[in-house]
Amino acid sequence: MTIRSRIAGLGGYLPETVRSNDDMAKIVETSDEWIVDRTGIRQRHFADEKTMTSDLAIHAAQNALKAAGLTGADIDVIVLGSVTPDRTFPATAAYVQAAIGMTGGCAFDLSAACSGFLYALKTADNMVRLGQAKNALVIGVETLSKITDFTDRNTCVLFGDGAGAAVLQAHEGEDGVIDTLIRSDGRHAPDLYATGGPSFNHEVGYITMNGREVFRHASVNMADISAEVLAKNGYTVDDVDWFVPHQANIRIMDAVAKRLGMPAEKVLTTVDKHANTSAASIPLALADGVERGLLKKGQLILSPAMGAGFTWGASLIRL
Ligand code: UT7
Repeated sequence: MTIRSRIAGLGGYLPETVRSNDDMAKIVETSDEWIVDRTGIRQRHFADEKTMTSDLAIHAAQNALKAAGLTGADIDVIVLGSVTPDRTFPATAAYVQAAIGMTGGCAFDLSAACSGFLYALKTADNMVRLGQAKNALVIGVETLSKITDFTDRNTCVLFGDGAGAAVLQAHEGEDGVIDTLIRSDGRHAPDLYATGGPSFNHEVGYITMNGREVFRHASVNMADISAEVLAKNGYTVDDVDWFVPHQANIRIMDAVAKRLGMPAEKVLTTVDKHANTSAASIPLALADGVERGLLKKGQLILSPAMGAGFTWGASLIRL
């Protein structure tokens, strides 16, 4: 019997401060109408000055552990996807490890922007399948507001802060993470990047983006890799109960669903209330879906993402 990672628990966390589109219109020349029409976003959560990425990650991790009925001491590995770490080093995962009382195993970060959760999921799932971990904590977390240029209306209205976490548990059975495909194409690095970095200019930098190029590639790549992961595992769009894509922009999500032939009623949407939280968006949406009673045990979930790098991927999960 094959060992798979079942999803033992999901948890999300959002910082308290909520900023509406009207709030954003007070700082840049924009409007609620433009933002809703072009992105579907109505509000976003922002961490305050003192709240760090690790704080959000720790809350989400604790929520996921509670849902799984486990403690930090049960966890063998933490894989954390983020492009907004507390510090250049150590890994944000190290702070999470200490806070949840996990003293063994290993904890590390990876950087794959909006695909960060899927990259982390793939990495942790591989470790579980190989017998290297029994319980793994997979986290997607960002404080994008800390690297947002609030004078640039092209980007500042799009992003939000948040964290999502999943506890994977080794088991012998058909449910759990069925397959995750990940891809990248570094030729597109100049289309979405931070203007700073330790070795580039000793700075943190701000998000800068060729929005149209990202849009074009995201619509195609997320649909095509979703089709690929379905076909590879002998499933069709009809088998999917919920489509939970990276929540970047409702127009991208609509375009992906259309190209894939996914009915609109199967698309789970949180972009209206969370905005684009990069690596956090999929686990936050999954946790939100469970909390709202939409996602249920036994259902088949398909989750694609695409982000800076470019990176992209898709995961097929039986809850
Ligand atoms: O996870 C991946 C992260 N990236 C993304 O999710 C972004 C992907 N790209 C997009 O979502 C879209 O390209 C945007 C939402 C960023 C832009 O939508 P668009 O329909 O491609 O607009 P555009 O870039 O063609 O801009 C149209 C106009 C421009 O004005 P002009 O040059 O036509 O006069 C922009 O300056 O809209 C203007 N504009 C704005 N107007 C009001 C750009 N941002 C704003 C704004 N408010 N916030």
